[in-house]
Amino acid sequence: MIVDALDLISSAHYGEFGPPHRQWAELRAQPLRYVEPEGHEHFWAVTRHADIMEISSRPEDFCNGEGIVLLTDQQVRRRESSQIPVAMKTIIEMDPPEHGVFRRVASRYFTPRGIERLAEIVDQSARSVIDALGAEGEADFVTEVTQRHPLRVLSTILGIEPEQEEQLLELTAQLFGGDDPELQREGETREQAGIELFMDFYEMFNTIIQDRRANPRDDLATMLATATLENGEPLGDIETLGYYLIVFNAGHDTTRHSLTGAFQAFLDNPDQLTRLRDDSSLMKTAVEEVVRYVAPVNYMKRTATHDLVFDGHDIAKGDMFALFYASANRDEAVFEDPDRFDVGRSPNRHLGFGWAEHYCLGAHLARASITALLQQLAARMEWMEPAGPPEYVASSFVVGPKHLPVRYRLAQPPG
Ligand code: HEM
Repeated sequence: MIVDALDLISSAHYGEFGPPHRQWAELRAQPLRYVEPEGHEHFWAVTRHADIMEISSRPEDFCNGEGIVLLTDQQVRRRESSQIPVAMKTIIEMDPPEHGVFRRVASRYFTPRGIERLAEIVDQSARSVIDALGAEGEADFVTEVTQRHPLRVLSTILGIEPEQEEQLLELTAQLFGGDDPELQREGETREQAGIELFMDFYEMFNTIIQDRRANPRDDLATMLATATLENGEPLGDIETLGYYLIVFNAGHDTTRHSLTGAFQAFLDNPDQLTRLRDDSSLMKTAVEEVVRYVAPVNYMKRTATHDLVFDGHDIAKGDMFALFYASANRDEAVFEDPDRFDVGRSPNRHLGFGWAEHYCLGAHLARASITALLQQLAARMEWMEPAGPPEYVASSFVVGPKHLPVRYRLAQPPG
């Protein structure tokens, strides 16, 4: 079998067909493969669970500092001639020891106990997006439900007022919408649009940063605005802005796609929703199963820091690796009947949140947000069916539908 290398990485392919599960299954059965998609950076396609765990655990050999996404030739050229005023590096693009120093700036906030304090915000957000749907009808569940909920939660912890949410949503969609034309800002050139976008972000977050420095509160915005590193130095302005951006961006689209994928999975497997409704003790395993099955972060890139041998292959310094989490999560060597969506799956050693050094900082918040919406779904969704085909975002990095039309009927909340 010959896997078409572009199927693995082309944004357009994901936009049209969704994730290439069939191709990954074939690659998992073969030795590690170096693929050379036309018009794109070449890479080792890492599809097996064990290989991804191993590479993620060796940051000294496989680093993040050279970037986390694979670029098209056009993007490489654009980056080389870029005039974006400052290079902003976030924790996901750092390596030890710098990475740990910056990660610890916010890690206290994201512990299970830290996240427990947000329970009311998270539950209220989930309830209100479902309430806003009305008793019955037809809606795009992405724009009406699954993107609203994480937007509310993240905006609250980052200090963004409800009336600014729309603007923030638009800005991040433009900044991270991959090559999707529906999500791109118009401008004389892409370069110019990029600079304007950056300045808009800067203005929005800088206002909050200044406010929290003058009027500290008990929130993440204040923690970031007043953070000092372990050597006592304050976090610089660009680093602070980078932290806001990574928290919002890493948290929003991932949670949104997990929730949309959960709706799709329950539409395809209504027996699993009945099971969850009848036995709420399955909630914990259901949430993990959603993240395994959907795996919205499709891959992360790693780069070899020196010549080495991996899995019997000669690797050259600078070789790039795509760690396909969505493939690892269907690895038949680890998961029984991996294509089945099973809300009671246990054990479930999925890699949807990554592994080791860069393991998702927001995993507990993501779990809380997904739990809150699944609780609403289990308690109140009397009936639902697809009202049209889903449409996918044209991106191979963070992957999922941008539209999901659904017809539904809801039970009204008690009281
Ligand atoms: C279901 C939702 C989510 C999924 C599937 C997800 C997945 C991931 C993955 C795969 C990584 C990279 C791990 C690696 O390279 O080993 C990551 C990193 C990260 N995530 Fe999440 N994430 C989610 C939600 C969130 C939320 C809600 C936040 C913040 C509020 C967040 C913040 C971060 C940050 C800051 C990093 C970088 C960590 C580091 O480099 O040390 N994520 N996430």
